Amino acid sequence: MPAIKISDLQKSFNRVPVLKGVSIEVQKGEMVALIGSSGSGKSTLMRHLSGLTFANRNTASQVEVLGRKVQQNGRPAKELRTTRARIGNVFQQFNLVNRLSVQTNVLIGALSRIPTYRSLLGWFTREEKLKALQALELVGLRQHALKRASDLSGGQQQRVAIARALMQEAEVILADEPIASLDPESSRQVMETLQRINQEMGITVVVTLHQVEYAQKYCSRAIALKEGEIYFDGPIETLDSALLTDLYGTYIPEGTQGSEANELPQQHSEFDLNRELNPV
Ligand SMILES: Nc1ncnc2c1ncn2[C@@H]1O[C@H](COP(=O)(O)OP(=O)(O)OP(=O)(O)O)[C@@H](O)[C@H]1O
Ligand SMILES: [Mg+2]
Repeated sequence: MPAIKISDLQKSFNRVPVLKGVSIEVQKGEMVALIGSSGSGKSTLMRHLSGLTFANRNTASQVEVLGRKVQQNGRPAKELRTTRARIGNVFQQFNLVNRLSVQTNVLIGALSRIPTYRSLLGWFTREEKLKALQALELVGLRQHALKRASDLSGGQQQRVAIARALMQEAEVILADEPIASLDPESSRQVMETLQRINQEMGITVVVTLHQVEYAQKYCSRAIALKEGEIYFDGPIETLDSALLTDLYGTYIPEGTQGSEANELPQQHSEFDLNRELNPV
């Protein structure tokens, strides 16, 4: 059973097709980079996997995660809630609760599994608290457990988001541009963390990336979208510069560009805003 199975996914926004019949299979334990230029449909595809966006009605579009339907015929599947609990999401803007401690942010990952009255009281068991610390240990942040989330650097906050997905016991992690607002050193640490949980825990990872160098360094397979269609799907090492030039228009191979030539403009400013409000 594949971890992810997308068949003939079709999605239009205001009658403009954005995904034009995309089919993808990802096996358990794979670490896949989803690449493609801005507007090619990467985030839209990821949102269909989490059941946050639904395909066009009356199409053959189907999305399955871990052998369970997420959606069919543009409608949520009955078992969507339980399937969603097995999918961890990591976003560019971290989505942590700034005023809460790092450990509590990780504990939030358990909320899909514990009774509402306990989660409303913010009451976690000793076992859950220990588990949160173990998750923090895994991402290298055990010693920061009691700090406020907003006191951590961007890269550290992103690793807290990964720990939260571990606490959730996610079997599939979908990371949409997890390093887009990070400096190279933090980006490396976040990608290494994703790689470690993929290799050591067998968690399936799909990560969208703007910087192809990171995909080449950390992922074994690339899926490239171009204008809502699969343009390339194969081992990362077969993604050559001719393909990349065609994919991005003007791709400058690594090593020949100016220092900032591959730094793409950042679209979201939440992180910068955070930094301005809480200068380090
Ligand atoms: N909710 C929406 N309503 C209308 N159009 C949308 C919506 N979401 C996405 N789109 C459009 O769908 C297309 C694909 O968007 P998407 O965000 O999936 O691209 P992307 O590949 O993630 O781009 P980026 O690299 O900039 O994040 C774009 O043209 C976008 O404007
Ligand atoms: Mg996107």
